[in-house]
Amino acid sequence: MTLALRPPMGWNSWNYGLNERNRADFNRLTEQTVLAQANAMVDSGMLAAGYEYLVLDDGFQNGRRDHLGRLQGHALRFREGIPALIEEVKSLGLKFGIYSVPGSLTCAQQYDDYIADGLGSLGFETIDANAFAEWGVDYLKYDWCRAHLNDGLEPQEAFKKMSDALKSSGRDIVFSISEYGLFKSHDWAPEFANLWRTTDDLIASFDSILRTLDLQENLYPYSKPGAWNDPDMLQVGNGSLTLSENRAHMYLWAVLNAPLMAGNDLTRMSDEVRDLLIHPGIIAIDQDWGGQQGRLVYSVGEAQVWSKPMADGSKANVLLSRGVTQETFKLAELFTDVSSVTDVWSGDSIDINSVLEIPPHDALLLLTK
Ligand code: GLA
Repeated sequence: MTLALRPPMGWNSWNYGLNERNRADFNRLTEQTVLAQANAMVDSGMLAAGYEYLVLDDGFQNGRRDHLGRLQGHALRFREGIPALIEEVKSLGLKFGIYSVPGSLTCAQQYDDYIADGLGSLGFETIDANAFAEWGVDYLKYDWCRAHLNDGLEPQEAFKKMSDALKSSGRDIVFSISEYGLFKSHDWAPEFANLWRTTDDLIASFDSILRTLDLQENLYPYSKPGAWNDPDMLQVGNGSLTLSENRAHMYLWAVLNAPLMAGNDLTRMSDEVRDLLIHPGIIAIDQDWGGQQGRLVYSVGEAQVWSKPMADGSKANVLLSRGVTQETFKLAELFTDVSSVTDVWSGDSIDINSVLEIPPHDALLLLTK
């Protein structure tokens, strides 16, 4: 059975757990905070909109494995234990995702001084896969974290090893891998992973969004249902991103058929951010497979158009104003052989003879037929 026939959607704890300086604050990651987010996924309408996976990222682990060699939750922050947490999250109608790494050290051990004794899955692949299956895990994020340097591992082989262990576990578990685009995973990951990261971590700034976007330019031939390019989790609603920057980010990820993993605090998001995250028209574009993910089709100065075919023969187009001045888009020049143009956000039709001015760091999402 092919998993992730559409780009996975959910909420992941990592971006939520970062402080203003973009450093991990593990005190924010507890049983209580995770359950509060899970409840907010349901209450805010995120689950109903399609965000179904709650993924517990790095930093949930206790300092060492248990007597069976299994990962366990941090003794103070996850007192009831991970299996109980999973049960509670799943009782809300959500699916559950978890985090591990192919080498010996997780990225939090590497970069955030997370004090622990070799938490990685190296040598524990079967134990971990079987434990995840037994606990009812539906999604695994498997993160490289310099395992070539620390453990001399070869990426394709190491990721495949966990893929095989998951398959032997007897449970369908979506396999999300990340090597930040270091080893051209798009060439080999589609054979066994459902999604692969294409870049380093996306942070909550427009610069980072543009830098990440530019690295997607040549990757459109590689994704397909069950195997998606992953330009990293959403930063919508985080940091100092403005509403128009959030909008551009969300529109772009949708035409890229990107996995949509929110990472904001769902218990305190503004109505504007919620409305953007759950907008049915945007999500429908992200989840639609028209035969190819979106790609750059027009670029003049700081004005760009990223466009994707839709299954019904129409096209979804992001008109993006990247710079610090507004950009002018003449629709009749951009779109030929088009009989109707619709603004996805408002549902309004737009005259093909319109000349649109898009403010700096903003975008418009148009469906053309
Ligand atoms: C890496 C990944 C992030 C996150 C952290 C966890 O930086 O790219 O998405 O999983 O590790 O430590």
